[in-house]
Amino acid sequence: MKKTVIITGSTKGIGKATALAFGKKGYHVIVTSRNSDRKTAMSSELEQSGISFDFYELDITDEKAVERMIKKVTNQHGKLDVMVNNAGIAGDNNGLLADASTENFNQILDTNVKGVFYGMKYAIQSMLNTNGGVIVNLASIAGLNGIPYAAQYCATKHAVVGLTKSAAVEYATSGIRINAVAPGGIKTEILQSAIEAGTYSEESIAAMHPMNQMGKVEDIAHAITFLASGECSFMTGSVLSVDGGFNAA
Ligand code: NAI
Repeated sequence: MKKTVIITGSTKGIGKATALAFGKKGYHVIVTSRNSDRKTAMSSELEQSGISFDFYELDITDEKAVERMIKKVTNQHGKLDVMVNNAGIAGDNNGLLADASTENFNQILDTNVKGVFYGMKYAIQSMLNTNGGVIVNLASIAGLNGIPYAAQYCATKHAVVGLTKSAAVEYATSGIRINAVAPGGIKTEILQSAIEAGTYSEESIAAMHPMNQMGKVEDIAHAITFLASGECSFMTGSVLSVDGGFNAA
């Protein structure tokens, strides 16, 4: 029987690459997106790749919807094997902290922190009833370091690291492994607003990394499928840097 993985925000960027990577490894993939208009394109790509999947419209800031989806997936497939809490936003704070708006901070907190918390909470409840599982959260270099002009985003990704480590310890003997990936700058839409605002350019982001380049979505997808695999059965509470050397410098 195929293993089942849920990936939040998986019709573009890192989430989409992760859905394809799990699918190619033979998982049944639960693709989720806030709007169904990306469903058709994503579905035909998965079908062409011969990947078995279900599509759910899901806003991760809606706690009840997250709970409903995880219960439904668990009931339909008998088990949720892997939960990837990928969906996240950068918000509009491309300036200094004293100029950042509280409204913007609330939006980022709702998505990047509370949304991840809901995903973890209901996945853990499901996994406790079905002999364990694996959770992978999307942290960031911004969860391990200060990044200028991104204090609010940084705060949320530090929170993801905290949720990951605490829960990993709490469920270490319950058969649930919980890890995070900390990507460096990856070419996706999330960096677009900072680039359009002129806060950063592709070149300046690349230059922040010792390898002097940005990463690819597949680099992160491969790290996530590794963390979900039995090849790292002794890993829990880790934050795996995939960042061209950023965190080492
Ligand atoms: P992206 O903008 O291409 O994709 C983010 C996805 O999350 C989109 O599908 C979006 O619709 C979804 N999403 C946002 N809010 C949502 C909500 N409330 N409910 C459901 N879905 C929602 O960005 P990317 O780069 O693929 O980001 C994926 C994750 O990786 C995020 O958590 C991000 O913070 C993290 N990350 C990205 C880095 C980068 O340089 N691209 C670096 C470090 C971390």
